[in-house]
Amino acid sequence: MELTYEHTAVTEEKRFREFDVEKIREDFPILKRMVNDKPLVYFDNAATTQKPNVVIDSITNYYTYENANIHRGLHFLSEVATELYETARLKIKEFINAMSASEVILTKGTTEGINLLANTMCRADMLKDGDEIIVSQMEHHANIVPWQLLCERKKVKLRVIPISDEGELDMEAYKNLINEKTKLVSIVHTSNALGTINPVKEIIDIAHSAGIPVIIDGAQAVAHQKIDVQELDCDFFVFSGHKLFGPTGIGVLYGKTEYLDKLPPYQGGGDMIRTVTFEKTTFDDLPNKFEAGTPNIAGGIGLGVAIKYLNTFNFADISSHEHMLLEYATEKMLEIPGLRIIGNAAIKSSVISFIIDGIHPYDIGTIIDTDGVAIRTGHHCTQPIMQRYNLTATARASFAFYNTKDEVDIFIKALYKVIKMFSS
Ligand code: ALA
Repeated sequence: MELTYEHTAVTEEKRFREFDVEKIREDFPILKRMVNDKPLVYFDNAATTQKPNVVIDSITNYYTYENANIHRGLHFLSEVATELYETARLKIKEFINAMSASEVILTKGTTEGINLLANTMCRADMLKDGDEIIVSQMEHHANIVPWQLLCERKKVKLRVIPISDEGELDMEAYKNLINEKTKLVSIVHTSNALGTINPVKEIIDIAHSAGIPVIIDGAQAVAHQKIDVQELDCDFFVFSGHKLFGPTGIGVLYGKTEYLDKLPPYQGGGDMIRTVTFEKTTFDDLPNKFEAGTPNIAGGIGLGVAIKYLNTFNFADISSHEHMLLEYATEKMLEIPGLRIIGNAAIKSSVISFIIDGIHPYDIGTIIDTDGVAIRTGHHCTQPIMQRYNLTATARASFAFYNTKDEVDIFIKALYKVIKMFSS
């Protein structure tokens, strides 16, 4: 069998599918299920998205007909599995418009991508005692704790961009934080807890004008807007497959070759070496250098299929549908007595965090679950945001392109039921 993945041009057809939400829902089998004897209303898409049939089938097919280890065997199945996995990498490369597939490192997810960078940057001496890293007050713990672990090993300081009451970054404060000690900026693209879409292009340009590389945590952005890493000119971009209608346990670290080449391997093991002797080991080229051990092959293939599925849509249709849901739900929610939305940025993704006077978010979540409505409650792995607003938790509804206005109505009705229960 001839291997073609090196040269496969993964050109998806650019004729977009008509945006018909009822037809789209047909692609997602879980959306037909009942929860507590009610049709499921799934508004927890910021935590994880549901999977279309094509993704589920690709994983079943892989284990049924194609399962073998990759990059290792010359037998038929190993070549099939390798081709499928590497074709997925090419799809990811095209999806985010990376310059080369070797800049696409497959990881377990966003968290592993940032840990990989913190660990290897520290070992490469890209970050030394006395250096500073800029993050923001609206980071997910995954973009705080890896840097804190690094700070324990080196005397590196985290500097934090504050946020306004509306949930927007203070860009003047950002500019003022930059100084000769700043060696890295690591910023969330879209806040999972506030919905704020940050001006990442401006953030990157400001950092670059001072010669500072930028990491973008794109976990909450990739499923909702077109990402072009060359246009953004970010130096690193991380995201998770499961928030992009793909499987869990697979994610992407994009990095510019010039930086990835400078970083040492993250983990040692099979598939990342060129030669091993007890005297000296040499490492493979990108991307293998960062992919030790047998990877999540089925996950990678599933992510490639999720991207192929998403490529059948025009992102502008997805964004405008989600924006319509955001505006509709916001308007209805603001009519509810005692309800306050946390995160009112001018440019927002389809995430609504909220509290209701006198009712704990956990009670809101538990009660509306009896109506089949799934939302997240808690600190959303963003405790510094909770501290900023003097809260311990919020309730959070987050929409994907398969959600509908009717579902928003069910959600609103369920919220009124909560209010009624607590007032009686
Ligand atoms: N980070 C995910 C969320 O926001 C899990 O729910």
